[in-house]
Amino acid sequence: MITRRQSLKHLLAASTTMSLLPSFSLAQVTQSHYALTASLANHQLGPNDAPSTPCWLYNETSPGPLITAMKGDNLKVEFINHLPEPTTIHWHGIRIDNAMDGVAGVTQPPIPSGGSFTYSFTVKDSGSFWYHSHNKSWEQVARGLYGGLVVKDSPDELGSDDLFLIADDWRLDENFAIHEDSFGALHDAAHAGRFGNWLTINGKSQPDITVPSHRYLRLRLCNTANARPLHFAFSDWQTMQVVALDGALCQPFEVTNIRLAPAQRADLLIKINDRPLTLNEVSHPDGLVVARLIPEPSLNTAPPKVSLPLNPQPWYPLPQLDEARIIPIHMQGGAMGNLGGAMHGGRMHSLRELASEQGKIWAFNGIVGGPHERLAELSQGEVVVLRIWNDSRWEHAMHLHGHHFWVASREFGHSPRAVLRDTYLMAPDERADLIFIADNPGKWLFHCHMMEHHAAGMVGVIEVT
Ligand code: C2O
Ligand code: CU
Repeated sequence: MITRRQSLKHLLAASTTMSLLPSFSLAQVTQSHYALTASLANHQLGPNDAPSTPCWLYNETSPGPLITAMKGDNLKVEFINHLPEPTTIHWHGIRIDNAMDGVAGVTQPPIPSGGSFTYSFTVKDSGSFWYHSHNKSWEQVARGLYGGLVVKDSPDELGSDDLFLIADDWRLDENFAIHEDSFGALHDAAHAGRFGNWLTINGKSQPDITVPSHRYLRLRLCNTANARPLHFAFSDWQTMQVVALDGALCQPFEVTNIRLAPAQRADLLIKINDRPLTLNEVSHPDGLVVARLIPEPSLNTAPPKVSLPLNPQPWYPLPQLDEARIIPIHMQGGAMGNLGGAMHGGRMHSLRELASEQGKIWAFNGIVGGPHERLAELSQGEVVVLRIWNDSRWEHAMHLHGHHFWVASREFGHSPRAVLRDTYLMAPDERADLIFIADNPGKWLFHCHMMEHHAAGMVGVIEVT
C-alpha cells in the first residue's frame, strides 16, 4: 500500500529539482514604511453612471494601496482606525512574528475606533500576499478592507509586465450599496457562505488593462471574496504557466484555467501578442468577462523583466515524516450534514439549538470552534501533519496562519500535485494531510477562509511553544 507520505515524496521527486547553488542573504536590512488609515469612503464599483458605493477602505481606495517590500526588509505600517468600530490588520501568508499577525483577541486586542497601532515585521519570503481586516472579517472584508502585498526579490520587479489583480465578489443592492441586512445571515453560514452578485478586478467592473505587447506577463491573481471560489480562464482557453501559489514559487506547470478559493493567490505567466485577451470567470457556462488585457506596443521599450523561473527552490522541502505529530481534524456541520450536536461552552448542544441561539453550525472534532478552542499544542521545530477530513457537503478553504504547508493538492485536475501553500480548497468529503514544520512560536489560527464558516465555528488555535 502506498502511504500518503510516499506518494507525496514521489510527487515531489518528480516535480522538484533542488538547486545546488548556495543562497546568500542580503547583508543590509532596509525599511519599507507605509501609513494606512481605515475609514468610510465611497468607491465607484459599478459602471460610471451608477451611484458610487459607500465602503470601508484603506486610504480611501479599493483595493487598499499595494504594499511592496524587498525580501529581508523590515516592513513598518503605521495604522490609524477611523472606522466606527474596532479592527486589526492581518498579513495573510506572511511567515510573521506572532505579535504582528493581527488576529483580534488572539495576537492583539482589537484597535478601537480612533486608535492606532504600528505593525512592524521582517518579510523573509518573496511573493504575492495580501492584507485584510481580522476583526469581524465577515463584515469588514466584505465592506472593502483589504489590499495586496508583494515582497520582491529584486527592486525592478512589478513593472508594466507584472500586475497584481485582486478579484472580489461584492453583494450589492439595486442602488449599488453593500447589502447590509444579510450580514451574519445564518443561511449563508450553513451553506456556501456569503456569495456576491458583483465582481470587480482591482475595484473596477470589467476594467481594460494595458499591458506590453509581445511579452510574457506575470499576473498575480488574488481572490478576496468572502466565500466564492472564482474560476478564471482567458479567451480561447489560452494556456498559462502557474509559477507560484499563495506566494511560494512552485515548479511551473501549464493550465488553461485556474480556480482560486477565497484568500488564495496564483502567479501566472501568460504570453501577450498583439490581440486583446479577455479574462473570464467561467463558473457559469456562459462565462463572464471580468477584465480585458489590451496590448500596447509603446510599453515595450523597457527590457522584459518577467521570465520563467527555472528550478525554483521551495521555501522549505517536504519534511521527513518519521517523527511527525499527527493531528486529526474532523470537520462537520452545515446544511445537509451529519452533525447532530456539538460541544460549546463546555456542554453539549443540539445543532438546532446552536444554530438558532448562537449562530454556530460548524465543529472540529465534535467541538464548535472559536478563537480560544485549542486544536493542538506543539513544540517548536516539530513536524506536523494536520490530517483533515471534510465530512460535510460544502467546500472549505482551509487556512493556517504563520506557516505554509505541503499538501498533495487535488485542485488542479485529477492527479494530485505536491504544493506548498497557505490555503487549501477542500472538496466535500475530501481527506488531506497538511504538512508543516512548526517553526514559528505563537498562537496561530487554523480556519476556513469562507468567512461565514469561520464566524460560525470553523476555527481553532494551534499553539507553538
Ligand atoms: Cu486571511 Cu485568518 O486569514
Ligand atoms: Cu468553510
